[in-house]
Amino acid sequence: MSSFDELLLERTQEAEQIVLSFLPEDKGKQKTIFKAMNYSVKAGGKRLRPVLMAQAFRFFGGRDMQIIAPFMAAIEMIHTYSLIHDDLPALDNDDYRRGRLTNHKVFGEDMAILAGDALQSYAYEVAAKAARQQVQKDPQMGLRCAQAMCYLTALPGIYGMVGGQVVDVELAGKPIDADTMKFIFELKTGAMIRAALDIGACMGGADAQQQGEVDAIGYNIGMAFQIRDDILDVIGSQDKLGKPVGSDEKNDKTTWVSLFGIDQAQADVRSYSQAALDGIAALRKGADPEDDFLYELTRWLTLRDH
Ligand code: IPE
Ligand code: IPE
Ligand code: MG
Ligand code: MG
Ligand code: MG
Repeated sequence: MSSFDELLLERTQEAEQIVLSFLPEDKGKQKTIFKAMNYSVKAGGKRLRPVLMAQAFRFFGGRDMQIIAPFMAAIEMIHTYSLIHDDLPALDNDDYRRGRLTNHKVFGEDMAILAGDALQSYAYEVAAKAARQQVQKDPQMGLRCAQAMCYLTALPGIYGMVGGQVVDVELAGKPIDADTMKFIFELKTGAMIRAALDIGACMGGADAQQQGEVDAIGYNIGMAFQIRDDILDVIGSQDKLGKPVGSDEKNDKTTWVSLFGIDQAQADVRSYSQAALDGIAALRKGADPEDDFLYELTRWLTLRDH
């Protein structure tokens, strides 16, 4: 195992532990909702968004993981809600996710819709409570939390992830031009990656200019990530991905691969990743010199097979 692989494993486990520690206990008359929420969150996944958030936090000197932990849990809950809803019969109608049957296959469509709703509002509950605590402890940190709440509420929403999903779903089976394709990717996937990095940077103490640079890195990682996702939907394996391949074709979706061809798609993953890497290298000059995990992680994402 390379030292990057070891560190990635360590950081993924750290994120995993944090996310799980914020899940609700499954008891009470409404226990089905706890079971349904926990089922999809506990199924695993790369935990990329909380890992990115923690790294951006560290990058700008954040050290006390207790401060960032609730936001790491919240972004993963919101991401998991987006996956549960994305898999519903009314959207992509997929049967497997994270190596398990999808939420609606196990709990029914009604509970899967509610589990998504519940994960979303519980994420905000966790983050808002943490923010309130910080306001009481340290007004400066309280202000950063307020800014983090703005990212956490805006980027998954109508101008971010949900907005992108709307156009993605609406245009299934219809021709899409390059600009619309970019718009969809920027919103449906880029916004959540930006949220992860923006929140980490803001809580770690980035200044306004660094904040803008981090956001641009998030955009580039997000684009590369979704183009790679479209490629893996064609050439990946369900065993590795934990979700079906061929979902896009089944739904008659225009993808980066169907629009530009696989070779161009691979080249575009590389160029968006390179733009992100250049941004990280530029930022790194002013940050902790030992810190190259974000750089290595971005490089790894270009080649990922899951
Ligand atoms: C899947 O995200 C949805 C996309 C934005 C492509 P991930 O590939 O990060 O899924 P998990 O969290 O590892 O399951
Ligand atoms: C969905 O994109 C991104 C989300 C906002 C959930 P996809 O529909 O391509 O994601 P997968 O391939 O099902 O993970
Ligand atoms: Mg989809
Ligand atoms: Mg899908
Ligand atoms: Mg996909």
